[in-house]
Amino acid sequence: MASDRLPPYRDATQPVEVRVRDLLSRMTLEEKAAQMAQIERRVASPDTLTGLPVGSVLSAGGSGPAERASARQWADMVDRMQRWALASRLGIPILYGIDAVHGHNNIYGATIFPHNVGLGATRDSDLARRIGEATALEVRATGIHWTFAPCVAVCRDVRWGRCYECFSEDTEIVRTMTSIVSGLQGPPPQDHFPGHPYLAGRSVLLRMRKNVIACAKHFVGDGGTHKGINEGNTICTYNELEEIHMKPYLDCLAQGVSTIMASYTSWNGSPLHSNYHLITDVLKGKLGFKGFVVSDWEGIDRLCHPQGSNYRYCVLASINAGIDMIMVPFNYQKFLEDLIFLVESGRISTSRIDDAVERILRVKFVSGLFEHPFSDSSLLDVIGCEEHRLLAREAVRKSVVLLKNGKDKKKPLLPLDKKARRILVAGSHADDIGNQCGGWSITWHGDSGRITIGTTILEAIREATANETEVIYEQSPSEATFSNQDYSYAVVVIGEEPYAEFLGDRTTLDIPFGGADVVSLVASRVPTVLVLISGRPLYLEPSLLEKIDALVAAWLPGTEAGGIADVLFGDHDFEGVLPVTWFKSVDQLPMNVGHPAYDPLFPLGYGLKMNLEKTK
Ligand code: BGC
Ligand code: BGC
Repeated sequence: MASDRLPPYRDATQPVEVRVRDLLSRMTLEEKAAQMAQIERRVASPDTLTGLPVGSVLSAGGSGPAERASARQWADMVDRMQRWALASRLGIPILYGIDAVHGHNNIYGATIFPHNVGLGATRDSDLARRIGEATALEVRATGIHWTFAPCVAVCRDVRWGRCYECFSEDTEIVRTMTSIVSGLQGPPPQDHFPGHPYLAGRSVLLRMRKNVIACAKHFVGDGGTHKGINEGNTICTYNELEEIHMKPYLDCLAQGVSTIMASYTSWNGSPLHSNYHLITDVLKGKLGFKGFVVSDWEGIDRLCHPQGSNYRYCVLASINAGIDMIMVPFNYQKFLEDLIFLVESGRISTSRIDDAVERILRVKFVSGLFEHPFSDSSLLDVIGCEEHRLLAREAVRKSVVLLKNGKDKKKPLLPLDKKARRILVAGSHADDIGNQCGGWSITWHGDSGRITIGTTILEAIREATANETEVIYEQSPSEATFSNQDYSYAVVVIGEEPYAEFLGDRTTLDIPFGGADVVSLVASRVPTVLVLISGRPLYLEPSLLEKIDALVAAWLPGTEAGGIADVLFGDHDFEGVLPVTWFKSVDQLPMNVGHPAYDPLFPLGYGLKMNLEKTK
């Protein structure tokens, strides 16, 4: 077909902005409204995708084509939906989005990387970039184009259930780790200029075949809520909001992040989903964001109490505030009806709709979606491949923080002896892939048990120790465990159970499952290293801390626990340092570095080394 016969929007040689304007000029109000809707996979059909046709589909946490679906099943599902979308009047492809927040975590057998809190402990911006690249490949292998990541929240209160989704409590550390955006999306092209997303540029990123669209979330102040309450209220001055919570967005914009998600939270009582000042004046105006803003899951429903009542107001307030795409995700009919009504009655201007749709189309053009709408089957094998698992293991090893080594500094317990005669491994998290992955793993809230493929800490210890070493594993040891056995040392692995979002809000933060008793029992008999698996610091009783010989914070490491054995046994030294302050008691909370009454158990940045050279 001669290119002069193509409508400009279908001509890849045309500048992006020309294509955007051409396509927009061909669209009806109904088609524009539909582009602004994102629906859940379970309601995607020829009716919604060819008929309406909606602009985007997502998988909610754990929502996939089948239990333990293969990469091919995922890709086939997305391709089928894409064919429905391409059969619509104008053939605008859908963007399919998913929460790939620590690797492609919803997919059985994918590589699961440490959650962000662990990555923050590495301070390694190049590592974050490489994890972004690997994650992008695994996401593309399943035909998916867009991840709702990274979360660039600055966690100011560890009682918040989403602390583990944050790189740090410190804005500068979060900024360092935003390099994951360049890994996910690929580095910004040359015609990109700082402060503006590269979306303003002309280039079509055909390399999107190996990259995905990123989404910085949740704009803005999500990590600063009063008492760390999920979806709560962040009380601070504008200056504090900018200095503490907004700065990471500057780095994401500088890397050309294509989408930004609005936060469920409020700022000084005003919900972000209806905040014109922050979304339109600041983000799109002052910061020059040219990509699109997506709502959070049923985020606009929460603008009314009871939730979802007066839905028309929710639509009006959010769209006029500047949100471009609404994660509906089920109630799309009502959303479209109300949106169209509000435009026809003049309460939402046509220019606002055009702005939203232009932004959505711009991302679709820039990402090469019109040229490459379908999955690439040559990528299928990258899911959980050796190279990615090695990268995850590297990340784990660099994220683990050594907090204590030896009751007496002259007699460190670590590195552990690989050739010990008999050792004890114990605790609820020693042999549990689900527990070490945490939330957002296979399902939304995660689960204990063999939820996916990977190496547990126990398995990693077995691999690391010599053949002649007898490794005794008792999940819950008792007196009998010690009756006629002696152990050279014990590794006790305990921590938090998996959780997501509000399910993880806690006020007490003690070690669940009676973990502290297990440690006490073991540590009073055998030299013990306690490995904590948790999304945040937990309360450590002084007597417990005294009793144990060594303490290691391993965060939520994901599927590759080999990285923990790598440091425990001294194949590598510890490199991780605390990304958040370790409190002494919960009544100190919130307590962040720089606080006038800062009196932590371990300060931000704390982390010991074994000094292997000296011990060798
Ligand atoms: C979360 C977001 C997530 C979205 C889609 C919401 O509940 O706050 O972080 O991207 O769900 O699963
Ligand atoms: C979904 C998540 C979503 C959450 C919102 C869950 O049912 O699976 O993706 O983030 O609801 O509360």
